[in-house]
Amino acid sequence: MKINQKPRAMMFPAPAVVASAYDEDGKADCCTLAFATMCSHHPPAVMIAINTTLKRKTLKSILHTGEFCIGFPSVEHVAETDYMGIASGYDTDKIRDVGFTFSDGKVVNAPIINEFAASLECRLIHTADVGSHTQLTGEIVNVRAEEDILDEKGKISYQKLDPICYDDVSHTYFSIGSHVGDGFKIGLKFRK
Ligand SMILES: Cc1cc2nc3c(=O)[nH]c(=O)nc-3n(C[C@H](O)[C@H](O)[C@H](O)COP(=O)(O)O)c2cc1C
Repeated sequence: MKINQKPRAMMFPAPAVVASAYDEDGKADCCTLAFATMCSHHPPAVMIAINTTLKRKTLKSILHTGEFCIGFPSVEHVAETDYMGIASGYDTDKIRDVGFTFSDGKVVNAPIINEFAASLECRLIHTADVGSHTQLTGEIVNVRAEEDILDEKGKISYQKLDPICYDDVSHTYFSIGSHVGDGFKIGLKFRK
């Protein structure tokens, strides 16, 4: 029997990623986001959503520079990632607090957190207000990845990256599970 649930934002699985940007004074800030997903192949783009009604310095910084990075934390950095979603750049320097460092983006004017094995450099191409959140679309203009998370074909390996999944319903972090099938292949058995 299916039970009706109260409507609330949810997605399974959702990630925990970290958006970073420079503020008006050139200071690096970042915040953890579960509202994040890819949204276009051409141009390559991602979409994030940041709460407009609550205190979010990173949103102000992204709107100011029009550029941002998305870092993909690995499971080993789950505590640092959580902290970046608790503290605000209005009150403290989060990157320094967790002992992380950052570099300038290679293409965009936004900080890349060095400890994250993979990051996207994004240029803001669209914003939309959706209720409590501002939805920001970023064109991916560069991708940075540590050599040791690449597979034999030079592509980012999901398993080597070991990204964090976040359940926004129970407020719990998970690691990815095991390989269960090959995309665009395992479903072919139903083709008539
Ligand atoms: C796991 C996790 C996911 C989060 N996802 C979002 C999100 O998608 N959108 C958002 O506006 N805030 C989200 N937050 C809250 C912000 O990261 C948090 O308010 C942060 O302190 C904002 O920092 P800032 O003021 O430096 O930008 C999340 C927090 C956590 C811990």
